[in-house]
Amino acid sequence: MQQHVRLTRLKMLACFSALAFFIVIVSCADKNNPAMPPTGPKLTISLDSTLDDTTGTTLANSITSATLADSTGTLIKTALISDGKANFYIEDLYPDDYFITINGLNQERVPTRIIAIQDTIYDMTQVVGKKLCSSLILSGSDTIFMIKTFFHGQGGRPVRQYSNGVDLSPEEYAYIIQSMGEWTGNFEVRVDSTAELLMREPNPRHSPHQFRSWIAGEANHGKVLLNNPDLITSQCQGMGCHNNYDTKPPQWHDISPMIGYCYKCHYGSTGISAGMVDPAH
Ligand code: HEC
Repeated sequence: MQQHVRLTRLKMLACFSALAFFIVIVSCADKNNPAMPPTGPKLTISLDSTLDDTTGTTLANSITSATLADSTGTLIKTALISDGKANFYIEDLYPDDYFITINGLNQERVPTRIIAIQDTIYDMTQVVGKKLCSSLILSGSDTIFMIKTFFHGQGGRPVRQYSNGVDLSPEEYAYIIQSMGEWTGNFEVRVDSTAELLMREPNPRHSPHQFRSWIAGEANHGKVLLNNPDLITSQCQGMGCHNNYDTKPPQWHDISPMIGYCYKCHYGSTGISAGMVDPAH
């Protein structure tokens, strides 16, 4: 019995010394290598209500937390918040689309795009509307991408199958990403949170429209047409450019400027509120 007590004491002593040793090691390591503030290129997110459209509701007035996930939904980074801005250190990310959850709002993930210029990632700024639908990505003072999401309840409706107009199941919401380079770049429609590509259009200077501003921006075709429905008949159709835009060709690939043109992106001539199309279904 006494021997047993002695053994237990010995064991406890061994445990305590191991613990003490461990604490000494950890505190030494800490002194040699104090926690360094992160460095390197960062993506800074801030909010700006001037980017908001009239539809939808304000979802965030300030940023209290932000996380970044990849297109598989895996959480990659948590932002450091300072002065109401979220900072992600992005040096170790590969160029791709990622999705930011602001203030835990998982249903309205803000897409972002990390790019590398000659294999190097630089600082980027993303200004996001308070409805979390519109954003601009800047590098220095240059706007490099314009992004818009069409979420449920924010003026959007689910993506529809081109073939039969039925919503994809489970529901998917689209975002557009418009490259803002002066001469080159793409217009893309993708699915929020997964980045699945629905359609990509090179960014030519279609005459008479400057494609970039005609699609998205201050005076995009949607705003012009919504405010002046007569223009659809007098201009789009009347000038003989988009006759039969309401006739949906059986195959998405058969769409031409003259036949079913509006279906190239959204399910008919009423625009975003009709849902974006998935050409593959
Ligand atoms: C290349 C893709 C594309 C094509 C083709 C296209 N649209 Fe759009 N449309 C968009 C995008 C993107 C928006 C949203 C723009 C924004 O919010 O900045 C939009 C918005 C609209 C809106 C605003 C409606 C709303 O719910 O906000 C209308 C109306 C509209 N489009 C009509 C048309 C008509 C009519 C045609 C055919 C003559 C057409 N669109 C062809 C991409 C397209």
